[in-house]
Amino acid sequence: MKILVAGASGALGRPLITHLRHAGHEVWGMAQSPRGVEVVGALGAGVVQGNALDRSKVFAIMERLRPDCVVDQLTSLPASPFDLPLRLPADRVLRLQGGGNLFDAAQAWGVQRYIQQSCGFYLDGAGGLADDTALLKIAAPGHVGESARMYAALEKRVMSAAGMQGTALRYGFFYGPHTWYWPDGAFTAHMRRGEVALIGGGRSVFSFIHVDDAAAATVSALSAPGGVYNVVDDQPTGVQAWLPAYARWVGASAPGQMEEQAALQQLGEESVYYQNNLDGASNHKARRVLGLAPRQQPWGAV
Ligand SMILES: NC(=O)c1ccc[n+]([C@@H]2O[C@H](COP(=O)([O-])OP(=O)(O)OC[C@H]3O[C@@H](n4cnc5c(N)ncnc54)[C@H](OP(=O)(O)O)[C@@H]3O)[C@@H](O)[C@H]2O)c1
Repeated sequence: MKILVAGASGALGRPLITHLRHAGHEVWGMAQSPRGVEVVGALGAGVVQGNALDRSKVFAIMERLRPDCVVDQLTSLPASPFDLPLRLPADRVLRLQGGGNLFDAAQAWGVQRYIQQSCGFYLDGAGGLADDTALLKIAAPGHVGESARMYAALEKRVMSAAGMQGTALRYGFFYGPHTWYWPDGAFTAHMRRGEVALIGGGRSVFSFIHVDDAAAATVSALSAPGGVYNVVDDQPTGVQAWLPAYARWVGASAPGQMEEQAALQQLGEESVYYQNNLDGASNHKARRVLGLAPRQQPWGAV
């Protein structure tokens, strides 16, 4: 298949290009920055440079390449997860408008399959693990709710595709090279500086996924029925368990403890929510249909 990956130089885009090439596909990667273009070229993919927000440019790229499949991995997230609230407005514009340009151009130029990055950690598990039919937590406070509403809009868009098979991949929290959750990642740097505390009971359940496993599942999705898939690993784990295990893994001191009330006043409602109200997700469908076989988390919390 001829495949165009948007966001090809990102944390998932990089391993995705490698996995797609190994599977024998003709791969084209889109990036906008000179560094991104260099990264995509070094991975052996064809390169197209363009700003996804430039609608006519995106249409011109699609007309020239005429891919069979488009994979939208566009994000504009910060180097540190602590800066998320600042960057989310730009991220939302990129994914909704830039991704919208990509989606419209794909429909206009006869693309057969469209794969959309979505989110597997803002799902409503109703007290348990969220399956692939679970709704996003669109009523959550602050940036969690804003992001959940954005992901719901992205899923609605891809599922409304006319003449094109649509798939939404709800990835768990990425870990691995070039992500926040890796020994040289930004979250680890915060942890080593003693800036990460357990808030209240740390009752949230996090579902992670290694970017290489996410990339492999994305390749499988190219030949699978369209629909929504939770692409998460087998170890949904409470924050109270994985946070100290992660600290040990990276050689940082154990995280401090912060009472919920103090966190509410000092950090705001979102921080308390993030550590106490997120639900993990189940991966049964992705295991069965996409052959997802995720590795064990290296911090070994469970
Ligand atoms: N599920 C998750 O947990 C999840 C999901 C996504 C991201 N993240 C985290 O967020 C951090 C950053 O993620 P990332 O590496 O994917 O982000 P990134 O380095 O910002 O890259 C995103 C991709 O989108 C491209 N892009 C950005 N703006 C564009 C535009 N206007 N037009 C065309 N392309 C554009 C970038 O191209 P250029 O390189 O050319 O700018 C790059 O290929 C990582 O730590 C990652 O783990 C987590």
